[in-house]
Amino acid sequence: MSIEIVLRGLGRHVPEKVLSNSDLETIVETSDEWITTRTGIKTRHVVSEGEYTSDLAVGAAEMALKNAGMDAEELTHIVVATFTPDAMVPSCACIVEEKLGIKGRAVYDIAAACSGFLYGLENARAILALHPEARVLVIGAETCTRRTNFDDRTTCVLFGDGAGAAIVTRDGDGPKIRDVKLSSDGSLSKLLTVKGGGSSSSYEKVGDPIREDYFIQMEGREIFKHAVRSMTTVCNQILADNDMTRDQLNVLIPHQANWRIIDAVGRKFDVPPEKVFSNVERYGNTSAASIPIALSEAHETGFIKDGDVVLLTSFGGGFTWASALLQF
Ligand code: UT7
Repeated sequence: MSIEIVLRGLGRHVPEKVLSNSDLETIVETSDEWITTRTGIKTRHVVSEGEYTSDLAVGAAEMALKNAGMDAEELTHIVVATFTPDAMVPSCACIVEEKLGIKGRAVYDIAAACSGFLYGLENARAILALHPEARVLVIGAETCTRRTNFDDRTTCVLFGDGAGAAIVTRDGDGPKIRDVKLSSDGSLSKLLTVKGGGSSSSYEKVGDPIREDYFIQMEGREIFKHAVRSMTTVCNQILADNDMTRDQLNVLIPHQANWRIIDAVGRKFDVPPEKVFSNVERYGNTSAASIPIALSEAHETGFIKDGDVVLLTSFGGGFTWASALLQF
């Protein structure tokens, strides 16, 4: 696409409450040593009672609006990527719209699990191709811990809650989106599921206890392999399609699922470790929120500098995977 698309403002928001590895040691049979060496995660932020995905989304949106110098009134579209909306109906985007004090916009959720934010960016580019004046708020927001089984040590140590946001427009200052690539393979869907509440796993009206399929279920080792392979492939693809080499990249931000996956992608893709951004140690895996939280933080802390070429890449349940190339 030759039209110029701009990320006008970035934002992020995480809940105040922090769950450390030593806290988890009191919940399941695990250890700080196991979690640190296998995942690189030390802490994760978790929602408190009465705190919902929409609240995190609004926090991130307000920061993005402030950084863009814009008012919520100026927004035309809201796209929320999440697998943990406040409810099946209404959409999280409708609740966000109401909490931002606006109405009458085109608002909806999209489901691509951890790749959701990059799917959202591509959605924004499509909207802007049709409606050049649009001001699209794209949010990745999750309360993963509401869908985490804290009796299952193989999953509960991995996830955290949070939200990240970007305002996407065709005018104004900010990094440019040079390209986005999306991909998927539904035949791998069984590797990561959250079935409960869906039509394939309905609940009885009375007396049906909470079942394990309400929570995230996954085959960690298999996911690990596919994650490294798919992110490396889609990164190579976006560089090739843009006639670029990896030497021209300044920063790589992979989905923050596990430090070992991030490290393996950096090595396989042959990018030096000092160019690879990670904050998984403090947030754990926040699914669709992971990329926009990392992008916002990398920009604010100066890890990303003016003029940098930044490559984002993610993978998630579905299976889905994606990459995006930004020019700061
Ligand atoms: O956004 C996508 C979300 N999913 C992912 O990113 C998952 C990707 N996969 C991974 O990150 C890794 O596969 C894990 C971190 C989930 C697991 O690491 P691993 O090196 O693949 O470990 P494993 O599953 O092979 O388990 C090794 C051992 C097992 O014990 P045995 O069978 O060898 O006796 C597990 O029962 O570690 C045990 N184990 C634990 N021990 C202490 C699993 N979870 C824990 C735990 N604490 N929390």
